Amino acid sequence: MCGIIGYNGKDNAIPYLLDGIKNLEYRGYDSFGCAIDSNGELVIKKDVGRIDNIINKYKLQDLSANKAIMHTRWATTGGIEQKNAHPIADCYNRIAVAHNGIIENWKELKEGLSEHNIKSDTDTEVLAHLIENELKAGKDLKSAVADASRPIKGMSSFIVLDTKNDDLVAVKKGSPLVMGLSKNGNFVSSDVPSFIKYTNKVIYLSDGDVVSIGKDSYSIENLNGEKRPHVVTTANMSVKSVEKGDYKHFMLKEIMEQPSLIKKIKDSGFEEVEKAASLIQKQGTIYITGAGTSFHAARLGARVFREYGINAIPVQGQDIPSYKKVISDRDVFIIISQSGETADIINILPIIKNNKKIGIINNQESALSREVDALIPMGAGTEKSVAATKTFTLSAIYITMLAMIYAGKKEEAIRELKLLDIDMYNVFVPSVISAINNVAEKIKDLESVLLFGRDYDYIIALEGALKLKEITYIHAEAVDSSTFKHGPLALISDSTYSISFVSKALRQVMLSNVQEVKTRKGKIIGISDSNSDLFDLFIKVPEEGLFSFIPKAIVMQLLSYKVAALKGLDMDHPRNLAKVVTVL
Ligand code: AGP
Repeated sequence: MCGIIGYNGKDNAIPYLLDGIKNLEYRGYDSFGCAIDSNGELVIKKDVGRIDNIINKYKLQDLSANKAIMHTRWATTGGIEQKNAHPIADCYNRIAVAHNGIIENWKELKEGLSEHNIKSDTDTEVLAHLIENELKAGKDLKSAVADASRPIKGMSSFIVLDTKNDDLVAVKKGSPLVMGLSKNGNFVSSDVPSFIKYTNKVIYLSDGDVVSIGKDSYSIENLNGEKRPHVVTTANMSVKSVEKGDYKHFMLKEIMEQPSLIKKIKDSGFEEVEKAASLIQKQGTIYITGAGTSFHAARLGARVFREYGINAIPVQGQDIPSYKKVISDRDVFIIISQSGETADIINILPIIKNNKKIGIINNQESALSREVDALIPMGAGTEKSVAATKTFTLSAIYITMLAMIYAGKKEEAIRELKLLDIDMYNVFVPSVISAINNVAEKIKDLESVLLFGRDYDYIIALEGALKLKEITYIHAEAVDSSTFKHGPLALISDSTYSISFVSKALRQVMLSNVQEVKTRKGKIIGISDSNSDLFDLFIKVPEEGLFSFIPKAIVMQLLSYKVAALKGLDMDHPRNLAKVVTVL
């Protein structure tokens, strides 16, 4: 997944785009580049590495142009090398392309381009040369881009800058693309936060749109050149919500937003949840799916459904294709996704096209949002950090509410949410924060950490392990304590530190598992509502009701953040990752 942005207007594009591309860095940060039309000459500056370093290296802030495009990359086809950074030019250095997505049939297309001077190993470059061919055939830029994009397979949105044309042209095909209309010029970008500082007048583009972006005009057509009716909306997003504010990292800001976001849920009426619950009525099997952290929320939801005697099957998005032969049209799918753009989820939509679909989604303008029959908005606001934190919490709460409302337990659910309030009040207290800091000091240099838990706590252990892995690079493994005598106990030695979630309901059996670790000289960090002399270190986590898995998840978020900070890592941009995985 990559971030692309372009501007065409009366003002100098560079300051807008340098600011905007930094806002898109969460989408990928292997390399960065920009292309400007400098009085008819194409100038491309690009390199591997982080945006700020490349800006300084090439003094990009000194550039000036009214028309420019920029790109921040998460490498898919073509290694992380300067030649594979975008934007990518044609043979004549006339046009430049910034692309987000993948061209699945690029090798086949490349075979027809043998007379071209191919400079990179990317799929994107074939697009630049296909457009070059269409331009050489005498077509105008918009028609050339439209016709060049026809043979392309896969999710691909892209922006084209042509030094012989006043307009930018962009195409939306699967990957997200929006326009921003400002007083002195027009933006096209992967998402709204990248230009929200300059305009909140937004056009959410649709697949198949071919957009011409002039300095003070624009047109939206389909691939056949027919005008596409569209609306200009006002984005309901504050500038503050897309900036770090007083926080050093988006991750910490987003962790700290959770209490107020939970309060907002409590004060809501759950109308969307009730509508979704009514959709489940008299259906077949309930499948709950998602990827990564969203799959952990799906597992929690399935467990809550079972708590109320309703069978719901949690299946990772990636695995749904293997269920194809057992899915009936009567089955209902609950899909959890922060971005609504995750390829593993978009990929299953054709398989479940006849099924009722409920989405618990944060990005309301996503591909998934347009496909579901009932949408429960997470309402978390923009989540920029690669590590999902507030959206995990909100999706876990919403899926729990959905299960309980479907089971006819709305009043009970609201009571449980009130108990969560008490828990939340007791998580962000100095004693807990200092205990977390103490544990972080102890584990920061470890190669690996085990996380033990049972039932709900095992799912939180899975989520906690993912947080530790993805932002501290420590190999963290969640182990269901009920299985550890079947093998994982062999991992315990006098050098292992393990985190053990000990809930009230399972205290007895969990402490005996802790004892088995201690007997083998393993160290135990207890996360529980009460201490034990079996714990070498202890983090007190309140536990009032059904939602008590939330405070435990938040403790793991804070612990992961602290360890990453102690290791001097960039927790908003962990290595090799991107916020949204738009390739399988
Ligand atoms: C979570 O911290 C990771 N960033 C990742 O597992 C993420 O949850 C997963 O890629 C799913 O993303 P989605 O919720 O946008 O579909």
